[in-house]
Amino acid sequence: MAQVISSSRARWYDPDSATLDRRIFSDPEIYQQELERIFGRAWNFICHESQLPEPGRFFMNYIGEDQVIAVRDRKHQIQVLLNSCPHRGNTVCRAEQGKTASFLCSYHGWNYDLDGSLIGMPGENQFYRGDFDKKAWGLGKAAQVQIYRGFVFATLDAQAPPLVDYLGWVGRLGLDMVASSGDIEVLDGVQKNRIKCNWKLAVDNLYDWYHVKVSHGSALRIGLLTEESMAPDGQMVMLGDYGHGIGGPGLSQAQLNDFVERMGNGEEPSKWYDLQAARRLDQRTRDELGPVGARSLGHPNIFPNLWVTLTRQLCLRIPRGPFETELWWFTLLPEGMPEEERRMAIFIANHMFGPAGFLEQDDGENWSHSTRGAMGNATRKRPLNYQMGHGQDTVVGDPSGQNSIETVVNEHGQRWTYQSWQDWMTADDWPSLIANHTPAPTGVV
Ligand code: FES
Ligand SMILES: [Fe+2]
Repeated sequence: MAQVISSSRARWYDPDSATLDRRIFSDPEIYQQELERIFGRAWNFICHESQLPEPGRFFMNYIGEDQVIAVRDRKHQIQVLLNSCPHRGNTVCRAEQGKTASFLCSYHGWNYDLDGSLIGMPGENQFYRGDFDKKAWGLGKAAQVQIYRGFVFATLDAQAPPLVDYLGWVGRLGLDMVASSGDIEVLDGVQKNRIKCNWKLAVDNLYDWYHVKVSHGSALRIGLLTEESMAPDGQMVMLGDYGHGIGGPGLSQAQLNDFVERMGNGEEPSKWYDLQAARRLDQRTRDELGPVGARSLGHPNIFPNLWVTLTRQLCLRIPRGPFETELWWFTLLPEGMPEEERRMAIFIANHMFGPAGFLEQDDGENWSHSTRGAMGNATRKRPLNYQMGHGQDTVVGDPSGQNSIETVVNEHGQRWTYQSWQDWMTADDWPSLIANHTPAPTGVV
């Protein structure tokens, strides 16, 4: 009979038995703590710099449940403002993106400049008698806003370390996988849909190459995907501090060399990895990704909730309470991509994942049922099993510093996510998270 996990707060995830207390998918109190301790502290992806080309251009997003407006101000700085008027709390912006001269609250008319400062209010002299401290009542702001290779991140925590340190080499490599193909253009229109599942189950799944042939069996049957490409035996995992990870198919050095040679001779793609590896053809890209990174065709997750896909998309998994997640799909293509390739990339972006995607409908259904199971009083007391490959693989060191696990289909990425999640949830602040978080593993994992 499965063991029942004790309710001890620090043991939601038990690294010794690789089991997980499934109440983390349903407990409202845990959810509130996640908003505080994870989303309130992390560097959260907001948008791509190119979406804010000039002063006044804005893009709306969320940090946890906090709605934020990213806007380029008059000094060309990117501000990330809380979308809530300090008077009665109404939102000051309702559009998802656009261009504006200021943010005018629709309730009583307080007006905010692009940097969030309060610049006007009806009745300032008559009703407030000329005695109001406008400087003290601007919009709330993110504590820090920083950019890595065009990707704009914000944190609500002034103590958070610099973004590049937070990302570490794994998080940076994850973004480099998109950015190394040159200047990027973000396609207009972020696809958004909601799934009735806990956000962590959506994150868990991006490392999951075990479900593919079963959940997505219909894609196999109609020939959209081939048996060989769905969950290749050669898998690579890279784990980084604070919960970042990359997991999925990996090429051996011989496969990469073979690919470069065949494509260099003008051969047509014939192997499953040819299409996925197309970007690796360019020596500059391979140099940027590094000797180990260049062999990875895996899925990066920038902790907590940003998935970088092989289809040149980013997917944010935004929590909407413990039982619902909003998925935001950004499609990023290299500027000046040949028209036909661009059309194909957009077709794939629309048809693989996203609300109309062939694959995600299968996934969403499973995540919803997993979440539903975590609500049952008896059911949720029984732990979930994360034992695949546990204690059976080794982190291989590389002189470049890009350490990796080279193995078969596994659950290293999921275990790392929950271990790191637990570190975040039990740390009282950033200094304690820096001092006490589990370092990226070495040796046997
Ligand atoms: S709520 Fe915004 S002006 Fe009153
Ligand atoms: Fe899937």
